[in-house]
Amino acid sequence: MADPVVEIRKLWTIFQSGDTKSVVHKELDLTVERGEVLSLVGGSGTGKTVLLRQMLGLETPTQGEITVLGKPAAELGKRGAARRVGMLFQHGALFSAFTVLENIAFPLRELRTLPGELSRDAAMVKLQMVGLGPEVADKMPSDLSGGMIKRVALARALIMDPPLLLLDEPTSGLDPESADGFCTLLRSLHKDMALTVVMVTHDLDTLFELSTRIAVLAEQKVIINDVPEKVVAFSHPFIQAFFLGERGQRAMALLKHSPGPN
Ligand SMILES: Nc1ncnc2c1ncn2[C@@H]1O[C@H](COP(=O)(O)OP(=O)(O)O)[C@@H](O)[C@H]1O
Ligand SMILES: [Mg+2]
Repeated sequence: MADPVVEIRKLWTIFQSGDTKSVVHKELDLTVERGEVLSLVGGSGTGKTVLLRQMLGLETPTQGEITVLGKPAAELGKRGAARRVGMLFQHGALFSAFTVLENIAFPLRELRTLPGELSRDAAMVKLQMVGLGPEVADKMPSDLSGGMIKRVALARALIMDPPLLLLDEPTSGLDPESADGFCTLLRSLHKDMALTVVMVTHDLDTLFELSTRIAVLAEQKVIINDVPEKVVAFSHPFIQAFFLGERGQRAMALLKHSPGPN
């Protein structure tokens, strides 16, 4: 299809330590179209986080091509990345010595794109956008709940209005209510900001609540990338174990009644 936001072709990722080679990705292909919320699922250690980091240009694959918004991911570079791609890291810790607002404005300050006053204003807008009040602005990260920390980290990821947002297990570690709230927030941001989202998640509620497509990582590649209904019906041991357990059945029952992300 024309104009994908992410296009990965024949990707290999091999880590070598001493004499042992471990092949994490092997001839992996993945396409993410504009406007999708693509969820990436796979067992632990299958290379989901590495794949997100490669999309962000933070890691270079052993072989293969990753094109993000029409350019090689490597060209995003560390400094330019925030403009085009926002990333919510799994352990996306905030800087503990900075206030909430300083954390959100950090990419702006680092790139010196705006004078201090304006970057403060921009950060306030994002704070509101993630559902937090102005009274949170001058708090320190240690004063925040887990759910609030995720929201602040999300505000930081979105500070430059990137068209692509990468989320690494955004609701893991949150209590069910906070996870639910975070999901609702992501859903409305996706709609309002015309974002394309790539999200790694193990959480079936999050998965079915948000995904327009699900890509499954197994056997070092993406074995299927399709709408949720097609993916759950796909015959593969990982998919059966992942979706057809008790929790999976419950989440799928919800899927039938869900209006979908839009
Ligand atoms: N920089 C690295 N050097 C060596 N091995 C790595 C490196 N980064 C990740 N790995 C290995 O690659 C595999 C995939 O890691 P990761 O992407 O973190 O998995 P997950 O799918 O759980 O997010 C793991 O076995 C991990 O140990
Ligand atoms: Mg991971």
